[in-house]
Amino acid sequence: MRKTIGVILLPAEIKNLPQCDLSETACVVFDVLRATSTIVTALANGAQGVLPVREISDALTIKQQRPEVLLAGERNGVRIGEELAGSISFDLGNSPREFVRSKVEEKIIVMTTTNGTRALCACSGAGRILIGSFLNFHVTVEHIQRGDFSQILLICAGTEENVAYEDVLCAGAFIDLLASQNGEKNVDDAAQLARAAYLQEQRNLFAGFSKGSNAQRLLSLPSLCEDVAFCAQRDVLHIVAEVASHGMIRKV
Ligand code: MLT
Repeated sequence: MRKTIGVILLPAEIKNLPQCDLSETACVVFDVLRATSTIVTALANGAQGVLPVREISDALTIKQQRPEVLLAGERNGVRIGEELAGSISFDLGNSPREFVRSKVEEKIIVMTTTNGTRALCACSGAGRILIGSFLNFHVTVEHIQRGDFSQILLICAGTEENVAYEDVLCAGAFIDLLASQNGEKNVDDAAQLARAAYLQEQRNLFAGFSKGSNAQRLLSLPSLCEDVAFCAQRDVLHIVAEVASHGMIRKV
């Protein structure tokens, strides 16, 4: 089936998604630094599921009902602590390197981040929602190709209110592979822009990421700087992550 490929580059456009009919659309959400890379890593390391929520208060309400869940997430890039969550400190932040098997295996993780989990919540009406990253790039594109949906919408979560270069690069990588297998005609202008950026940076993703403000912020923080190289790895995880019932992200 010929697929139409579109891309959302700006967080402002994401706010309109709840008003759109996405029932026939497969959305792929990218927050490469770091929420979607972290979600994929958690599932690859045996987490049962990741539930994205918009607000810290939403996460705390779920924790009260289900004390066994782990809470994860960041504000301003750092793990949510007692100053934001009352007497509770979150179990994990938003660094993929924290989500090791010994911490996450068999666990349900409730997660809230500044842009990534909000973008995931905004497209909850979509026919399918996949989690995009370079870590599981090829298997996810193959999964989309096998699917029977005609419209694909790639959603770059961004940073605060701005475009995030690494999200655009990852969306561009998806477009490049999808368009080369699917024909060039059904690719919109924003998608062509993302593809061109990816083609320019594809030989050295770390260097490409480093041009973006998000990577520069992380690289300036000794405890988080290694996240940039981690998230720039390509095809090291062989799982597809998708929103299943009740908004829970699971391994396909
Ligand atoms: C987000 O969701 O805004 C990002 O993942 C922020 C971060 O790097 O922690």
